[in-house]
Amino acid sequence: MKALCLTRYGSLNYFRLTELPDPTPGVQEVLVQVHASALNPSDFKVALGEIKFLHGRRFPMPLGNDFSGVVVSVGESVTDFRAGDEVFGFLPYSPSNQRGAFAEKLVTRSECIAHKPSSTSHSIAAASATAVITAMQAFRDIGKLKPGGRVLVTGVSGGVGSVAVQVALRLGASEVVAIGSDKGLDLAKKLGAKLVIDRKHEDVFASASGSFDVIFDAAAAYRWSQWKSRLKSNGTYVTTLPSVAFAVDKMKSFVSSSSVGFIGVKPKSKDLKILAEWLESGLTISLDATVPVSDVPQALARLKRGEVVGKIAVNVTF
Ligand SMILES: NC(=O)c1ccc[n+]([C@@H]2O[C@H](COP(=O)([O-])OP(=O)(O)OC[C@H]3O[C@@H](n4cnc5c(N)ncnc54)[C@H](OP(=O)(O)O)[C@@H]3O)[C@@H](O)[C@H]2O)c1
Repeated sequence: MKALCLTRYGSLNYFRLTELPDPTPGVQEVLVQVHASALNPSDFKVALGEIKFLHGRRFPMPLGNDFSGVVVSVGESVTDFRAGDEVFGFLPYSPSNQRGAFAEKLVTRSECIAHKPSSTSHSIAAASATAVITAMQAFRDIGKLKPGGRVLVTGVSGGVGSVAVQVALRLGASEVVAIGSDKGLDLAKKLGAKLVIDRKHEDVFASASGSFDVIFDAAAAYRWSQWKSRLKSNGTYVTTLPSVAFAVDKMKSFVSSSSVGFIGVKPKSKDLKILAEWLESGLTISLDATVPVSDVPQALARLKRGEVVGKIAVNVTF
């Protein structure tokens, strides 16, 4: 099969179209013909060698986590899926993942996928996977968001932030305040944010009035220590990136009424099924562009430069 692979770390110029052996599904696995994928910052971070611990050093290295496609065959213990089913999901962000979705085919564990709604395109399904599940698990599992909770979201131009307002509302938030810039603010307002704050032209701490049950720092641009006075008792600040500052804040939060948490997203069938229902009932996934797989390096450069609003989907045909 053909795949767009990284040939070494260090530059977005090190991607090459590569011929690889077709993968074979294990007993609990599913072989998927990939129709669409989507870009995430982890793709350029891996390519640039910033997170080698996530992918090891085996080259040529297929990249790409999000996917949507059609089941080709299944392992003998798989009962929920069969050849011909349209499915979507994302490959785990873990060192054990030596697979990639910028490829004609991939194998995935069956508990990491769900059936794609027939009314949703492969591009939208792929673009939704990591972004929506990250926001869902951040609010529900780390933030312990309860119905009626008041929420703040950052990075609303981004893949995760652009869906997080809708996810918070679907999980029962009473009000969402959105921090972002430029076109992301219009989008957040359109998708249900009560108040939008322009981080480039306003003092975000002064403008975000009131207190919050969950502050989801999708952009990982702030710290719990900057926001703790704005968290309600038992409120939680959730970030998408662990750091030394995060570890220090985590220690300090043990003697505080609020807490700090990190979301490490995991592909789970039950969450992808919820996402499938949300897509069927009108969840909006904003696509900045859909690019052919050959244009992934250039599109990743745009994502890295911060020029993208929402998601970039990838049409996986070679
Ligand atoms: N741990 C996990 O499980 C997990 C999962 C998914 C993503 N992530 C990480 O989460 C982060 C966001 O992912 P994404 O897909 O949304 O990335 P993205 O599409 O690149 O969006 C990031 C957004 O952050 C905002 N931003 C950029 N620079 C900023 C700054 N200096 N101050 C404040 N905001 C800034 C921008 O939105 P505005 O201009 O509107 O502010 C930008 O669109 C990335 O670091 C990604 O690697 C982690």
